[in-house]
Amino acid sequence: VLGIWHQLSKKEIPELAKCSVLMRERSKVEETIYSMQQAGAGSLQVISDFDMTLTRFAYNGKRMPTTHNILDNRLLINEACAKRMRELMNTYYPIEIDTNRSAEEKLPLMVEWWTKVHKLLIQQKIRKDMLGMAVKESNAMLRDGYKQFFDRLSENQVPLLIFSAGVGDVLEEVIRQNHVFHPNVHVISNYMDFDHTGVLRSFQGQLIHTFNKREGALSQAAGLRQLKGRSNVLLLGDSLGDLTMADGVSEPKNILTIGFLNDQVEERKESYINSFDIVLVNDETLDVPNSILRYIT
Ligand code: TMP
Ligand code: MG
Repeated sequence: VLGIWHQLSKKEIPELAKCSVLMRERSKVEETIYSMQQAGAGSLQVISDFDMTLTRFAYNGKRMPTTHNILDNRLLINEACAKRMRELMNTYYPIEIDTNRSAEEKLPLMVEWWTKVHKLLIQQKIRKDMLGMAVKESNAMLRDGYKQFFDRLSENQVPLLIFSAGVGDVLEEVIRQNHVFHPNVHVISNYMDFDHTGVLRSFQGQLIHTFNKREGALSQAAGLRQLKGRSNVLLLGDSLGDLTMADGVSEPKNILTIGFLNDQVEERKESYINSFDIVLVNDETLDVPNSILRYIT
C-alpha cells in the first residue's frame, strides 16, 4: 500500500521533489497528505504564522519588513524611536533565532523585547488613519503565489487562521491592500487600542510573542466556531515557536507542518528538519503549500 502512496504523491505533487524541500520522513509526509486528501476540504483548516511565513523574508537580496518594521516610517514614529527599535532588533533578534538557547530561556527575553517596543510605539502617539499609508510606502510583500493560496482556500471554504506575534492592524492592512482579506480569514495577533481621537494608547489583550503562541492557541483559537470539527491541519511557520499554533485544535487527526528556513540556514537546518515535517530552505514562494492544497482540495 505504501508503494502506491509514494507514486501517487510524486506524480501529483512534483514540487516536493525540489532540492529546497527537506523532509525527515518523506513516506510519513506522503501518507499524511494522502489521508488529508481522502478526508477532503471539509475536514481541513490552515493555521499560518504571518511575518516571514506569508510575507517574503528577502527580495533581490534585501530584507523585507515585518509588521513591526512597517511602522518604521516618519509618518508614524520619529528618528529617535526608529533608532531605538533597530537597536532592540539587533539585540533580541539574534536571541530569537539562537539554536543554543531553549524556548524557556528565550521566553522572558521575548517578553522584554515586545514590551519595550510596544511602549515606544505608544509614546509616539501613532495615528490609526496613517497605518494604511505606512503599509503602502513599505516594501512588505506577500510570498509569490499568495493570491492562489488565499483564493483557493476561500473558494473551498477552508478556514485560514493567521496567528501572528506581529501587529494585527498592520497585518490586516497588508492583506487588505493585496485584496486577499477574504471572509474565511481569521486573525489572532497583537491589536492596537486607539482613543476616541484615533491615537494609539495601548495594545489589546494578552501579549503574543514568538514563544507563547501555545497560550493563544488554547485561549483564543480553540474557541473559534469556524474551526470546529476540522481535524486536519496544515500549519505554516518560520519559527520553532510556530509549531505550537495548532495546540488548541481538539482531537486532531493529521497535522502537517511546513517550516520556512529563511535565515542562519546551516546552523538551524538540523533542528528544523527534526521539528517540521517539511522544511523549505530559502524558498520565497508558496509553491509547496499551494501544490499540497491543490492535491487535497
Ligand atoms: P510573526 O509571529 O507574525 O512571525 O511576528 C513576529 C516577528 O516579529 C518575530 O519574528 C520578530 C519580529 N519583530 C520585529 O521584527 N520587530 C519588533 O520590534 C518585534 C517586537 C518583533
Ligand atoms: Mg514569523
